[in-house]
Amino acid sequence: MSEPLVLGLESSCDETGVGIVRGRTLLANEVASSVDLHVRFGGVVPEVASRAHLSALIPTIERAAEKADIDLADLDAVAVTAGPGLMGALVVGLASAKALAAYLGKPLYGVNHLVGHVAVDLLDHGELPMPSLALLVSGGHTSLLHVEDIATRITEVGSTIDDAAGEAYDKVARVLGLPYPGGPVIDKAAQDGDPTAIRFPRGLTARHDLEKHRFDFSFSGLKTSVARWVEQRRLDGGEIPLADVAASFQEAVCDVLTAKTIDAAQHLGVNSILIGGGVAANSRLRGLLEERAAAAGFELRRPRPALCTDNGAMIAAVASEAIRAGVRPSGLGISADSGMPVGTVVA
Ligand code: KG4
Ligand code: ZN
Repeated sequence: MSEPLVLGLESSCDETGVGIVRGRTLLANEVASSVDLHVRFGGVVPEVASRAHLSALIPTIERAAEKADIDLADLDAVAVTAGPGLMGALVVGLASAKALAAYLGKPLYGVNHLVGHVAVDLLDHGELPMPSLALLVSGGHTSLLHVEDIATRITEVGSTIDDAAGEAYDKVARVLGLPYPGGPVIDKAAQDGDPTAIRFPRGLTARHDLEKHRFDFSFSGLKTSVARWVEQRRLDGGEIPLADVAASFQEAVCDVLTAKTIDAAQHLGVNSILIGGGVAANSRLRGLLEERAAAAGFELRRPRPALCTDNGAMIAAVASEAIRAGVRPSGLGISADSGMPVGTVVA
């Protein structure tokens, strides 16, 4: 098979995503978000997300097939997120993908959502130089990954010891009275702020922390520090300088993420750095990493912002790479794995 035609279903959190790729060419990427249903709760409600996937999946598959101008019978494989993610939400996607694969008589690939955030860049920029270092920054995960083979060999070099970067954005947004998800609104508010206005802490960068946690992250102290600063300002009866707080918080996050990424890339001796996950859509992270990667002589790969947040194309992209590498399909017996480790590319 030269260029496999693959459909990918994503349902691990609050986006119902359906993507269709042929090899590394993106043909369709349809996303139905249930975020509006979660806003008043200030975060994703799992039960609400599962029900939303159930009603959105079939129409989203139909829209994607129409956009890609393909007949589902012509697919070479069906791919679906097997984990990590919300259990109920994963189960809805898996059951649908199994039904589709069984009905069409096509192989089923249950793939890792985190690897999807890395593999999606291949749809934008083609073949990834191996080995590469990937910075994965999403709402649930923040990790540095040594990618020796996108379909078979991915090792975690470090990760957050508490909150994920996206989680920190979402929690700080709540402190500031901004809506969920916090990332995009803080990114926007920060545009008019001074990133040096307030010096917030950079987690796990002190010398004694670096000994044990050189490639790990911590954002919970930063979140608390922002909350304390805002609380104190309110007690003092002062106005909250929203743009300055947003910019200063964002600078602390992006400073640590980029510094540790460059350090890990140098340590591993790779030539290429890649970013993925919802926070990879952040304008300051993209800009600062561009500066620092160029200064240190690394090639930097950044998927377009619309492909950084959850979508089905990234799931199809993983299966497409797995097929290219000769990885066997998962079969119809697979289960959802809410804690699927990043080293498992295909279940
Ligand atoms: O990858 P993703 O869509 O879902 C997960 O797998 O978690 O990431 C969602 C996270 C949320 O925490 C959201 O606030 C954050 O990505 N995010 C951003 C931006 N866009 C989304 N964070 C910072 N800046 C952004 N522009
Ligand atoms: Zn994600």
